[in-house]
Amino acid sequence: MSGSPSHTVLSYRPLADADIATICGFARNAEELYFLFPRAVWPLTPDQVRATLSIRRDPTVVTLTEEGRERVVGYANYATFEEERTASIGNVSVDPALRRRGIADYLVRTMIDRAFDHHRLPELTLYCFSTNTPALLLYAKLGMVPIALETRVTPWGDPIALFKLRMDRVGWRSAAPVAA
Ligand SMILES: CC(C)(COP(=O)(O)OP(=O)(O)OC[C@H]1O[C@@H](n2cnc3c(N)ncnc32)[C@H](O)[C@@H]1OP(=O)(O)O)[C@@H](O)C(=O)NCCC(=O)NCCS
Repeated sequence: MSGSPSHTVLSYRPLADADIATICGFARNAEELYFLFPRAVWPLTPDQVRATLSIRRDPTVVTLTEEGRERVVGYANYATFEEERTASIGNVSVDPALRRRGIADYLVRTMIDRAFDHHRLPELTLYCFSTNTPALLLYAKLGMVPIALETRVTPWGDPIALFKLRMDRVGWRSAAPVAA
């Protein structure tokens, strides 16, 4: 349950109720919240997160441990889950103070490995808005491929394109490099 991008130690574990206030601070603004949790209302509150937990699967946090102190730095779950068929990774988010350090890479690899190795799913999907370049580049790097394009309207009234991305277990096993 651990990895070590740079010189820090990352681990993952199931979300605990005490983590929820922290993950509510991961979206820096209404646009980021829309990207990671389109149905949420800005600002994100613990009650909005708790309300989703009964319908989401495997809520998972990434923690960073420095000098023996654990800090929650990333969050994701499966927004949808169909046994033996498919799941969709959702709520991918990282502490804004710690971005560009490989935390999302570690987090999403963790969710992918769990889907394919623990749940033995044949495929995974993920939805990402077309204007979310950091996330699209992250998913491209991990080998996710766009398979559909849908239209949405943002809460502030702009049309926006939503990509559906996909990867399968065979492709992940044969192409993905080993996590750091
Ligand atoms: C998208 C997000 C999760 C990335 O988290 P992160 O921990 O900073 O990402 P990582 O450091 O693991 O980056 C992994 C790869 O993603 C891409 N990437 C991440 N942030 C990027 C940025 N700001 N610009 C360009 N590429 C970026 C790069 O390919 C990067 O690999 P590299 O560092 O070798 O270039 C983070 O910016 C976030 O929480 N955004 C708000 C919520 C959101 O949009 N979630 C995704 C919903 S689909």
